[in-house]
Amino acid sequence: MNIGIIGAGNIGGNLTRRFQELGHKVFVANSRGPETLADLAAETGATAVTVEEAARRGDVVVVTIPQKNTPSLPRDLFAGVPDNVVVVDTGNYYPQQRDGRIAGIEDGTVESRWVSQQLGRPVVKAFNNIYAEHLLKLGKPSGTPGRIALPVAGDDERAKSVVLRLVDELGFDAVDAGELDDSWRQQPGTPVYAADFDAEGVRRALASASKERKPEWRAKSDKAAQTN
Ligand SMILES: NC(=O)c1ccc[n+]([C@@H]2O[C@H](COP(=O)([O-])OP(=O)(O)OC[C@H]3O[C@@H](n4cnc5c(N)ncnc54)[C@H](OP(=O)(O)O)[C@@H]3O)[C@@H](O)[C@H]2O)c1
Repeated sequence: MNIGIIGAGNIGGNLTRRFQELGHKVFVANSRGPETLADLAAETGATAVTVEEAARRGDVVVVTIPQKNTPSLPRDLFAGVPDNVVVVDTGNYYPQQRDGRIAGIEDGTVESRWVSQQLGRPVVKAFNNIYAEHLLKLGKPSGTPGRIALPVAGDDERAKSVVLRLVDELGFDAVDAGELDDSWRQQPGTPVYAADFDAEGVRRALASASKERKPEWRAKSDKAAQTN
């Protein structure tokens, strides 16, 4: 497969490494331009490209950048990109540590739904609940007892099935976590987040999640920011 990866940090870099090892052809981009990705390209054999090219060269395009930067992607990023190209969102909202306040999410929009609105494209949510290093190192062959499982959520069954397959190829059991609006069940602060459960554990964790956003995962209010 041709796989575009927008974001070449912890997750984007490790997905580049693993997908290339598996024989896929990766086109990877960051915010500063392909010339700054020469080391990653040399290490993995991936092709360093612009963000626009990454969106156009993939059968699957993974967007893996800090949530707050999503609106700064080119407005027409996916214009003309065929509908059958699968877009994956790995993002998490870290209001207090990194992203600041994102009003839509604070008002109750599910994180990946907000990303999808920004991109103007349907997305499949995956890889958001596993540490980048575990994604790189803890994959195991199918059938291995205790194999880590990852939840995958999205509205388009065909797109989701493509991502479920890729998760398995990467060495993880893939659990269908429902539609995109169900994906709050795998957001930061939920039981499945960074837990490395097996498939049964992931299903149980998704089922036991609470929709209430805990205070540590909310932006501090303007009032609180002034008094702190
Ligand atoms: N780290 C983890 O273990 C982990 C696990 C699961 C999910 N996540 C989530 O996955 C996303 C990526 O996390 P990360 O840890 O990989 O981030 P990171 O290490 O900070 O890397 C971010 C990457 O995004 C690129 N980027 C930022 N703004 C961009 C833009 N406007 N256009 C193109 N590229 C842009 C950066 O490029 P430049 O360096 O050129 O600016 C950098 O390559 C986040 O939402 C994070 O919460 C992270």
